[in-house]
Amino acid sequence: MATKSRTTQQPRHFLDLDALDASTLRKILDMAHAMKRAGKKTPAKFKPPGIEQATLAMIFEKPSTRTRVSFDVAMRQLGGQTLSLNNTDLQLGRGESIADTARVLSRYIDAIMIRANSHDTLLDLARYAAVPVINGLTDRSHPCQVMADIMTFEEQKGPIKGHAVAWVGDGNNVAVSWMHAAVRFGFELRVACPDELRPERSAIDWVKREKGAVSYGSDATKAVRGADCVVTDTWVSMGQTDGARRKKMLEPYAVDARLMSAAAKGAIFMHCLPAYRGKEVTEDVIDGPQSVVFDEAENRLHVQKAILAWCLGAA
Ligand code: CP
Ligand code: NVA
Repeated sequence: MATKSRTTQQPRHFLDLDALDASTLRKILDMAHAMKRAGKKTPAKFKPPGIEQATLAMIFEKPSTRTRVSFDVAMRQLGGQTLSLNNTDLQLGRGESIADTARVLSRYIDAIMIRANSHDTLLDLARYAAVPVINGLTDRSHPCQVMADIMTFEEQKGPIKGHAVAWVGDGNNVAVSWMHAAVRFGFELRVACPDELRPERSAIDWVKREKGAVSYGSDATKAVRGADCVVTDTWVSMGQTDGARRKKMLEPYAVDARLMSAAAKGAIFMHCLPAYRGKEVTEDVIDGPQSVVFDEAENRLHVQKAILAWCLGAA
């Protein structure tokens, strides 16, 4: 990529869905649908300039199956190269600052995707990098996942605007990105979780300022009633240490056939995976006809091709 763009323009970061406007997100999703239709060979019109010489660095401070593989394949299908780095491979793991790591990597590579323990690490990286930075999950949010989920919803049910989605379980990082998406894509989100596990205050305040249609309660059946989509996630996210306590609090929020029967006719079930059958979801639901979990996983590939293309300057 041209050195000039590093020095004269702000990189196009993909940090969170509340940090980008609705029309940009719509453009990325439309590109993702088109990328999926096009298959493995990316049409020239979607390829960012200079992609054949471009390298994506992927930094992992936490484990990953889907994010690691789908970003790797996405960048290769666009025509570029990838480099996968665990933080213990880097001097970062021995105390080199994120700022210096960002400055150094920016001299070699063209975009950075990071899965970080702390959201502040992502923000620091974006602050000091001269190339685009992409959020591949932090303790706060998981925007690439929810872009794939919105794409999956649209494949099943058409435009999500005006529909009702129920989030049942922990008010975690994925829930926060769903809240951002509800505002940006104009749908209703009903969050059902124990009071103690509500999504973080700053996300609730942001939705309120944006006048988003997001409600919060502790009654799972009430949230699910008439919803077009029911979403849940693991009860214990990576890095959380109070597993036993969380499991006890979240037991009433397991998604089973009885809960799904309260949803709208033809409602779909989503889970970002990895899933724990018999905990947050029963086997008959996640492996049943309403489940679209593997479409969500596949759509990570298509949506991330579009995110990379946008970050690297296509359209
Ligand atoms: N859903 C998701 O991000 O999966 P991985 O943790 O396997 O990347
Ligand atoms: N909430 C989960 C999502 C995993 C993709 C976690 O952070 O571990």
